[in-house]
Amino acid sequence: MSATASTLITKKRHPLLGTEVRGVDLARPLDRETFREIEALWLSDLLLVFPEQRIADEAQIAFARNFGALEIHPSVSHRSSRNPEIYRISNLDERGAVLPRQSTQWQYMELTRLWHTDSSFREVPSKGSILHAIELPPEGGDTLFANMYAAYEALDTETRTRIRGLRVRHSHDHIIRQSETLSARADKGEYAELPPVVHPLVQRHPVTGRTSLFLSPHTMEGVEGMPDADGRALLDALIAHATSGDFTYRHQWQLDDVIMWDNRCTMHAVIPFDESRHRRELHRTTLIGDGPPIAA
Ligand code: OGA
Ligand code: MN
Repeated sequence: MSATASTLITKKRHPLLGTEVRGVDLARPLDRETFREIEALWLSDLLLVFPEQRIADEAQIAFARNFGALEIHPSVSHRSSRNPEIYRISNLDERGAVLPRQSTQWQYMELTRLWHTDSSFREVPSKGSILHAIELPPEGGDTLFANMYAAYEALDTETRTRIRGLRVRHSHDHIIRQSETLSARADKGEYAELPPVVHPLVQRHPVTGRTSLFLSPHTMEGVEGMPDADGRALLDALIAHATSGDFTYRHQWQLDDVIMWDNRCTMHAVIPFDESRHRRELHRTTLIGDGPPIAA
């Protein structure tokens, strides 16, 4: 454990990303100094873990607002009815009953098992998220995070040169196609028709200026200007590289963990759990991105 200048006590959970932060009560307003320290740690360590934070949704929202404007998710079925800024990631309805497997919410929840970057199907993906564990299964349901700066830096020079400047097509339809249930029916969730977007494959972080790979396997359709098969092969090789284990931290949840990640230089995936027998509920607040990803 090492104490920073103020009262924060930090401990690395993984050499590449994931730092535990104690000595702050997220239910109380942050003073300027503590906010600055948390923000700096978030930018340098990519994923912060605040253990033992028994906070109400309203406090989570207030904490999140320190870092920017919050997204209201378009899909009513995912939102808390009391606080639209809270996106519920759960196999339970709001009364605590296990949802039917066919429900839209369940189907989207299952898709979080695929590696992804949040909202990569939007012009402006989210900046980051804050996630509070409210109910957890006895096994499974860990969340993996990959450091996409490290994944980029580990590529050989030839590959880096080859992929720099490439642009990737992302679409929400691609997510839907990966769900047998959602793709087979008319109700695909409350998304308006979302046109595909194009994002750089190699991006520059708007604040740190560091270069990272920008991958999101659940929305990536192909590489602009490349035959489909070649684009697919390139993306698949990069995905395998970035998720190989060298660049990933596995978060084993404890009740009342609050975690906060930078969505501009990480991706994540949930380890399956037995959703028909076990209960899992997390509440997310999502920071709206400042602008489209910047090509490196
Ligand atoms: C998310 C997500 C993570 C989890 O919150 O964006 O993909 O652990 N879920 O459920
Ligand atoms: Mn996600």
